[in-house]
Amino acid sequence: MKFKTSRQINSIKAYEPGKPIKELERELGIKNSVKLASNENPLGQSPLVMDAVKENLYSMHRYPDSRGHDLVEAISKKYKIKPENIVIGNGSDEIISLLANAFLDSNEEALMPFPSFLMYEICVKIAKGTPVMVSLKDFQIDFDKMLEKISKKTRMIFLTNPFNPTGGIFTKQNFLKFAKNVPKDILIIVDEAYFEFVKDDTAFNSLENPLKDKRVVTLRTFSKAYGLAGFRIGYGIMDKEIAKTIHKIRPPFNVNSLAQAAGLAALSDVEFLDKSVEFILKGITFLKAELDKINLNYYPTHANFLMVNVGKDSSEVFNDLLKFGVIVKSMKSYGFNDWIRVNAGTINENKIFIQALKKVI
Ligand SMILES: Cc1ncc(COP(=O)(O)O)c(C=O)c1O
Repeated sequence: MKFKTSRQINSIKAYEPGKPIKELERELGIKNSVKLASNENPLGQSPLVMDAVKENLYSMHRYPDSRGHDLVEAISKKYKIKPENIVIGNGSDEIISLLANAFLDSNEEALMPFPSFLMYEICVKIAKGTPVMVSLKDFQIDFDKMLEKISKKTRMIFLTNPFNPTGGIFTKQNFLKFAKNVPKDILIIVDEAYFEFVKDDTAFNSLENPLKDKRVVTLRTFSKAYGLAGFRIGYGIMDKEIAKTIHKIRPPFNVNSLAQAAGLAALSDVEFLDKSVEFILKGITFLKAELDKINLNYYPTHANFLMVNVGKDSSEVFNDLLKFGVIVKSMKSYGFNDWIRVNAGTINENKIFIQALKKVI
């Protein structure tokens, strides 16, 4: 018996997560493989996180704090905003999904760059909305085209800064010019998952002046620079009426107690965060220098990953690198047929990747 799925759901292409290390090692019977596909922190997480988690392990018979009071207070102090403007989620993925479910009626539209982070499209379809894709122009968000695509049905727009998969940024000027022309009743979701890595002052930072524009929803995550990807924790900063709506529909215990404790401890360890960012950016500098030596082009990134033109079919390169125990991301499914995306790892991992890449290409 085949059950009918909704048309929207049928059209979803499943999200392909980076291949897990253990899976590759099982398949190839190898050890010490290197995963540089999911933009994680190679230094792991702050020792304060481990202490906090151990301490909280003894209260796991209790439900988590539904609103994540302590973590929300810490985020509110960090950005000098009120707790009523903050919603924590099971990864920022969940906030994307909640926004789509809360603000899209059937067939209403969400604009997004194409290609971009696949969860925007997936979440919009799950919410029975219609994703409207706006192709990148010269690898960058095409703001003019986005404005042209706004219709009476548009309810939300997704922007990513730095952009995944290129690592490119847009400036405050780009944003303000764009936002001025977006109708007042459309949400502008600014996903800043990689913002901790940005060192360029011209980049638009939606939290420089948080909540000045009520339409702007900022997404941040603990998965990248803070090294908490496995805990699944991220947050959104938004107008209090938007937050109220999200609270109405979110699962009451969406963020588990350990993740809340981990996030709180991670926020308190500024030293670890700074050390991680510095280390990762040095890794990017190393990778760029090595790619220069072998004449491979890459996009000038502001994040912890690089999109590299490997000059041939990237799924082939992806599969060949796997044989050397190196996992990267092929950009073929994003329409970039000869590009891979690789994140900075440890010094040793970066070297292993470069050695393997030289052999493969
Ligand atoms: C642009 C972007 N937004 C959001 C996320 C999701 O992050 P989280 O782990 O918080 O769900 C990612 C993860 O890869 C991402 O690249």
